Amino acid sequence: MYWFRSICRDHRFRLEQTNEWYCDLGELEPLLRQHMPPAAEGAPARRVLLPGCGNSELGPQMVAAGFGHVTCVDYVAGVIDNMNELYG
Ligand SMILES: C[S@@+](CC[C@H](N)C(=O)[O-])C[C@H]1O[C@@H](n2cnc3c(N)ncnc32)[C@H](O)[C@@H]1O
Repeated sequence: MYWFRSICRDHRFRLEQTNEWYCDLGELEPLLRQHMPPAAEGAPARRVLLPGCGNSELGPQMVAAGFGHVTCVDYVAGVIDNMNELYG
């Protein structure tokens, strides 16, 4: 059953280019800015980990908005392939 679900999810992710399960940066940005103020001049870029990123565009949006280096990880191969194709 686990493998069946996993294959179905992989297939779904390969069909969908992007999808937001929760919310995009537009909704999150005020909260993130409150807790992640801009790095000091000359400080190394902030590193952000997004575990279980799915095919959300939050990671690429955070990079574009200057939040730093964002690493997106997911255990579904289709997600990684999609996002590499779009943003890699
Ligand atoms: C509910 S979706 C949320 C996706 C994304 N964060 C969003 O907000 O649109 C959960 C994601 O976490 C991934 N995931 C769940 N457990 C994981 C694990 N142990 N390691 C890596 N990814 C995982 C799933 O493949 C799925 O893409």
